Amino acid sequence: MKKLTPQETRETFLDFMESKGHLRISGSSIIPKDDPSLLFINAGMAPMKSYFSGKETPPQSDLCNIQPCIRTIDIEDVGDRHHLTFFEMMGSWSIKNYFKDRAIDLAYELLTERFEFPKEKLYVTVYGGDKEKGIPADEDSIRFWQKTGMPDSHIVVLGEDNFWSAGDTGPCGPCTEIFFDTGDSHGKSYEKTGEFDTQNRYIEIWNAGVFMQYNRREDGTLEKLPFMSVDTGSGLERMVMTLNEKESVYDTESFKPYMDFIVDKMKLTDEDGMASARRVADHIRAATLILSEGVVPGKDGRDYIPRRLIRRSASIAMLRNAPGFSFDTLTKMVIDNMGQAYPKMRINQEAIRQTMAQELMSFQRSVKQGVRQFDKLTRDSDTLTGQQVFDLRSSLGMPLDLISELAKERKISVDMEGYKAEFAKHQMISRNLGGRK
Ligand code: ALA
Repeated sequence: MKKLTPQETRETFLDFMESKGHLRISGSSIIPKDDPSLLFINAGMAPMKSYFSGKETPPQSDLCNIQPCIRTIDIEDVGDRHHLTFFEMMGSWSIKNYFKDRAIDLAYELLTERFEFPKEKLYVTVYGGDKEKGIPADEDSIRFWQKTGMPDSHIVVLGEDNFWSAGDTGPCGPCTEIFFDTGDSHGKSYEKTGEFDTQNRYIEIWNAGVFMQYNRREDGTLEKLPFMSVDTGSGLERMVMTLNEKESVYDTESFKPYMDFIVDKMKLTDEDGMASARRVADHIRAATLILSEGVVPGKDGRDYIPRRLIRRSASIAMLRNAPGFSFDTLTKMVIDNMGQAYPKMRINQEAIRQTMAQELMSFQRSVKQGVRQFDKLTRDSDTLTGQQVFDLRSSLGMPLDLISELAKERKISVDMEGYKAEFAKHQMISRNLGGRK
């Protein structure tokens, strides 16, 4: 495998796609335009949905770019080897032109010849179909993978995971993804009939093609799109991680300076500590980008995302009791590192740092009391009941994340099911009190 920096990786990808006739276009802001179905741009194709539906015509059928993405559904997974809230997607598209065979050939050529991945370490997944929805299994992709020389033992047929769409509505279709085997130290090897471990051992490096052919309507049903297209995407940070044989995306040069700073100042040494450091690095990097777009932390919708990211990080810092750690220094590091690629970070630097400081301050005030109450409740007990969790949240405004982090840290078990039941009960009460007409 070629050892490449993030910039070399971007260029290798774009250069390859251009050499295959794709037009290099610029990425968009992470704030969607005229798309109420998304809080943030979550994939390279998201700003281009109208090309897939035929509402707009692209400048050329085959395109490629690098697109910053925010994936809010991955926030809970951050802390493992490869999930990120904010990542850069290397993407290529063919709108109403080539389809599965060329998409698979291009992905395979790029990975094995340009990036020089060893063939025997690559695995692919394909869509197994859904009888209920009347969607057939993707036999074509299996055939095209076999044509590249991919052994059957490396072709894995999966279900829902291999049907992709950017949101609840819009263009969608079956997809085929490529995974890199990071070896025995990361779990059991895949056996033809067993589980395919996509969380730890096998890292997805490329969605080699969502084969766009359906539009999902508001009611969840699918209709055929007027033509078929290909949508591919590869997370830059994961690609750099695997090319450089790093343990995680956090060990690549995109994250290393933040990680070193956090680990040192928070004095983190154990495995849990490392996961916490990864969360802080990811969350502050993502929040900085979001704030640079003028989003202000708030109670719901898009505004709630930076609040959640900042408060989750603040919870960790509080739990670690790390007086030497400074969010402002970390934010400044992110701006210095990324300001060239994301100029709004530099332009709005003062506003970003101020907003971050205000959010941290208001959070600290509101949780101090909550932590005291948590400690009181668990002084003589190693369990928190659903009712107690509910009270911590509703009366003292403790975020659930902080309660969970505190519980993990102090080895207290939390009755989450009880909490959910309590929450549902109160939702019902307040609905009834609301006297719906
Ligand atoms: N849009 C596809 C994805 O994000 C390529 O996986």
